Amino acid sequence: MSSKAELDAIFARLTTAYNTLSADPKKATPKDKAQLKSAALELISATQTPHENAFAFATQNSVYPCYRVAGDCGLLAKWPKEVMSAGELAELTGAEERLVVRIMRVLTSSGVFTEVGEATYKHNTLSTTLSNPGFLSTAKFLNPGISNLPEYLAATSYRNPGSNPDTATPFQCGNNTPLTFYQALAADSKARNGFDAQMKQSVLMERARFPKGFAETYDFEGEFGSLIKGEEDVAIVDVGGSGGHVLGDIIKHLPGLKGRKVLEDLPETVESVTAPDGIEVVGYNFLEGIQPIKGAACYLFRQVFLNWSDAKGKQILQNTLPAMTRGHSRILIMEPVMPPMKAPLMPAMIDIVMSQMGGQIRTEKMWRAFLDEAGFEVVKIVPSNSNQTVIEAVPKK
Ligand SMILES: C[S@@+](CC[C@H](N)C(=O)[O-])C[C@H]1O[C@@H](n2cnc3c(N)ncnc32)[C@H](O)[C@@H]1O
Repeated sequence: MSSKAELDAIFARLTTAYNTLSADPKKATPKDKAQLKSAALELISATQTPHENAFAFATQNSVYPCYRVAGDCGLLAKWPKEVMSAGELAELTGAEERLVVRIMRVLTSSGVFTEVGEATYKHNTLSTTLSNPGFLSTAKFLNPGISNLPEYLAATSYRNPGSNPDTATPFQCGNNTPLTFYQALAADSKARNGFDAQMKQSVLMERARFPKGFAETYDFEGEFGSLIKGEEDVAIVDVGGSGGHVLGDIIKHLPGLKGRKVLEDLPETVESVTAPDGIEVVGYNFLEGIQPIKGAACYLFRQVFLNWSDAKGKQILQNTLPAMTRGHSRILIMEPVMPPMKAPLMPAMIDIVMSQMGGQIRTEKMWRAFLDEAGFEVVKIVPSNSNQTVIEAVPKK
């Protein structure tokens, strides 16, 4: 336990962070939230001994399996009554009552469900969110590759995943499959639907921050609207655009943006896509061939490169380059950019999740070097008031 002076100092930081955030919660930036979270965690840590902190840290991997068990056996499902006892939950799920109590203990102390009496519980916001089938199937799909990371890294003598594109990825080793992450996802319709729903949900949350959605994160119309002379010209190609939720949002808020708008994703993904009105859909594997849509003003890659190693990322860019018209086409990359220091835990964790595919969340310095090596010049980097940054780049002269 820290001294009174240390506790006071942390509490003062916590209060400052709280005051900033509570002044106008709707305008709070991810940085404001991260500062409050970091001060809150610091305070919790300061109230415990170093051994207690170390023990809690080292045993946190017991929480995730309890979440999986709760999902698999039905504890996370919607309950017939608002408040349920462990006995009633045992009857509902078929799990032994003593086991229900143990699982629920870990979950309630982690904020999942609320314990309203002895061995009596009710759902709360976190348990309801975690019950979403899409959330559960995505978590299940992502887990083996990450859990197996220590063995993978030991076996590869601690090479950075992705640094050798010919080595199997942590995802492939953890799941004992030759399939890449997206090939495996395509073969598992439950996981694919869950994954797409998560992508859509994250877009909805991000969009909710801006009255004009993505149209506010970059001035699409101002930057290249005047280059589109007729309806045959291509305005935007959303490469790896999943169900078109991002492109649909962009064009909804920019009714004046002329030209064709094209959604591309893997052929097996676009097969089941009903794109929003005004969008053409094209099946295209960006690792396997040259970009088929030539001369677009903008090739948009949102949350694409974080899934890929530098080597594969360069392949994607080099497959795009021949389709681009110099002085007319640009690429726009939208994804989180890792701060050079004091990174919040969330992007740091997502970075590790991405490592299982050989991908990563790059810092600005890494982006500049990566794009330069792939033959691109950065035109601008626009940080947005969300966790996404927009990087605009054009072919090098
Ligand atoms: C993380 S998701 C991003 C989806 C969307 N851009 C967004 O921001 O919500 C990555 C997308 O890349 C697609 N993808 C993966 N491998 C691909 C490939 N080889 N060619 C084309 N698209 C691919 C996936 O199907 C998925 O929809």
